[in-house]
Amino acid sequence: MGCSNGVALNQLLLVSLNLLHLARGRSEVYSGISKYSFPDDFIFGVATSAYQIEGAWNEEGKGESIFDTFIHLHPEYTPDHSNGDVAADSYHHYMDDIDLIKKLGVSHYRMSISWPRILPNGTANYINLQGVMHYRKLFVELLKANIIPVVTIYHWDIPTALEGLGLWKNTTLVDYLVDYARILFNLYGDLVKIWVTINEPDIVCADGIKFNKYLPEEATHGLNEYVCIHNMLLAHARVYRLYEKEFKPYQNGKLGLCLDVIWPEPKNPGNPEDLKAGEIYSRMRIGIYAHLIFSEDGDYPPFVRERVNSMSHKQGYLQSRLPYYTEEEVKALQGSADFLGINHYTSFLASQSSSDPSWAVPSMDQDTGVRLDKTKAWPRPGADWLSVYPPGMRKVLNWLQNNFKLLERIPIIITENGLSDFGQTADYERVSYYNDYLYQILLAIHEDGCNIKGYFAWSLLDTFEWNYGYTVTFGLFKVDFNSPNKTRTPKLSAYNYAKIVRTRRIDFDFIKAPVTYNIWQYLPYH
Ligand code: NOJ
Repeated sequence: MGCSNGVALNQLLLVSLNLLHLARGRSEVYSGISKYSFPDDFIFGVATSAYQIEGAWNEEGKGESIFDTFIHLHPEYTPDHSNGDVAADSYHHYMDDIDLIKKLGVSHYRMSISWPRILPNGTANYINLQGVMHYRKLFVELLKANIIPVVTIYHWDIPTALEGLGLWKNTTLVDYLVDYARILFNLYGDLVKIWVTINEPDIVCADGIKFNKYLPEEATHGLNEYVCIHNMLLAHARVYRLYEKEFKPYQNGKLGLCLDVIWPEPKNPGNPEDLKAGEIYSRMRIGIYAHLIFSEDGDYPPFVRERVNSMSHKQGYLQSRLPYYTEEEVKALQGSADFLGINHYTSFLASQSSSDPSWAVPSMDQDTGVRLDKTKAWPRPGADWLSVYPPGMRKVLNWLQNNFKLLERIPIIITENGLSDFGQTADYERVSYYNDYLYQILLAIHEDGCNIKGYFAWSLLDTFEWNYGYTVTFGLFKVDFNSPNKTRTPKLSAYNYAKIVRTRRIDFDFIKAPVTYNIWQYLPYH
C-alpha cells in the first residue's frame, strides 16, 4: 500500500484497485500470536466523554447542557426514553473508574470536561468552583496512578445558556469556546499535557444537521452543514494558536482534534463509477477537514471548493454555500495540530448517485452524491450503523497518510475504536473486533509505514449512547445501571485488551482460553 505517495483524483482508479488486494467481505481469520508487535512508543488507552458517563447532571453547581435540556424535553429521542442524568455515575465513582483503568494496564485515559460544569452560563463571568475541584481531583488521582489524562475540551455538551446564539451558526460561539479553553489551560495545564479541542466535527455538522441530532437547533440543509464546519474548525485553530502562543512555552503540552472517519468501500469493485464514489466520499467528508490542517497548501480542498461552488451556482445561489476563510484564517488552520485523532468504527458500501429520497436538496449529501449501503456480509452485532469490516481501518489510515503530506511528521492516534452489542459480559464478538481491528493497525504500521502512535478503545465502560440510550453498549466493563453503585464488571474483552496492552501482541486464540473470575491475578495492576 505504501503510506508515502500522494494521490491525484485521476489516479484514483489505480489506487483503488491497489486497495482491493486487501480482503473484501469477511475479514481474514487469524490464529496464534500476531507476528507483529506494537512499537515501544505506541500508547494504549481507553476513552469516555462527560455526558455519557458522569451523571450528576444538576449537582454541585453544574449548569445544563444542550443534551440535558433537549432530552428532558424529548425523552422519545432515545428508544428506551433514557438520558445521561445518572449514567454510570462516574462523577461520584471516578475512583472506581481509575481502578478499572489500572486493571487494564493502559497508560492513557481520554475523557472530556463538561463545559457547563465549569461555566454554568457558558461564559467566563462565573466559574463553578466545585466543578473545577472535581476535575482537579480526578487528574491528580489519575497521575498518582501513572495514568496520563487526554482531555477533550468539547465533546458536544455545550451549555444551554449559549443555545440562544444559534450554536455553530454563530461565530460568537467560537469566541466563547476560546474563552472556555483558556480557562481550562489556566486551571489544569499543569496536570494535563494532551488536549483534544473538538470531538468529531463531521458527525455534529453533517449527521447532526441531517438527522436533527447532536445540535438541537433548526438548520437549513446545504447551508448550515458548511457554516457549522467553518466555525467549528475556526474554533479549533484559534484554540490551538492560543495554546501555542500563551501556554505551550511553559506547559509543553500537545493539542489535536478528532475526526470520525468511516471507510467507503466501493460497492461493486468491478465498476469504475463505484471506485470513484469511495474517493469522492472521502474527499468530501474527510478531506474537507483534513486538508485545512494537514495539506501543504491549506484551505478547503480544491475538489470540495469546486464541487460546492458549481452546485451552488447551478442552484441559483449568488455565492457559494461553502464559506471562505480569510488568508489569516487559512494560515491559522494549516498545521494547527500536534496529532490527528481518528475515531474509526465502521465501513459502508459506496456508489454514486445524483439523488436519494433521504437527501435534502440542497444538502451536503447531495453535493457529495454518494450513497452508502450496508451489506449482510459484514456482521452488525449491536447498533445498526456499526458493521464489522476490519480492513476498513487499514484503508482509512493509508488514505489519510497518502493524501496529507503533513501527516508524515504529525502522527495519527486512533482516539476511538470499538464495538457495540447488547451488554453481555461474554462478549466474544467484541474480543474478535478488537483483535482484528488492532491487527489492521499493526499492518498499517509495519507493512505500510503509517505514522500511528496510539490507540484508545471506546469505551472504558458502558455509557449512555447518544441515539440509543442504554439499548446498546460499548464498554470493556459492564455497568449495572440498576444497581445503586452502578457496579462495574469486566467483560471478556477487558481481559483480552489488558493482555494485548501487556504483551503488545494480539493473541488470536484468546477467546479459546478458559476464563476464571480471578483472571486479573495473571495480569498487571490487579
Ligand atoms: C463517537 C463519539 O465520540 C462517542 O461519543 C460515541 O459514543 C461513539 N462514537 C460511538 O457511537
